[in-house]
Amino acid sequence: QNILVIHGPNLNLLGIREPSIYGTVTLEEINRNLAKLAEKEGIGLDCFQSNTEGELIDRIQQAGAEKTDFIIINPAAYTHTSIALRDALAATRIPFIEIHLSNIFARESFRQKSFFSDMAVGVISGLGAKGYELAFNYVLGRK
Ligand code: DQA
Repeated sequence: QNILVIHGPNLNLLGIREPSIYGTVTLEEINRNLAKLAEKEGIGLDCFQSNTEGELIDRIQQAGAEKTDFIIINPAAYTHTSIALRDALAATRIPFIEIHLSNIFARESFRQKSFFSDMAVGVISGLGAKGYELAFNYVLGRK
């Protein structure tokens, strides 16, 4: 199967960005770890990051046209703002896990609302970089 991992805005700065909230693991380390797991399991994996809402939407639309079986997405700040990104996921109908490094429910009230959670297969929030691996393992064991 083919898994697409999508990282939203500012996640390219992981490791140096507010490490007390988001940890010290870099995005490259997260992607490399997932790539290693995917290779071991014979799974197709693509990791995509953008700071631009339109590029994220284009990538999701592209996934709809490809053979993507599952999406793991951290919409970052767009979690709380982007109906357009939500609509893109709804249009593709590809099942997805929503993931956040921090526990968004333990933070500012504006972070406690997500435009994605009601559509997600599940949500992982607050488990740091480990969350991506947990999501990946869930997808492997699914069906
Ligand atoms: C985040 C939480 C969001 O509120 C924030 O805007 C992010 C990262 C997380 O992974 O904890 O950029 O999605």
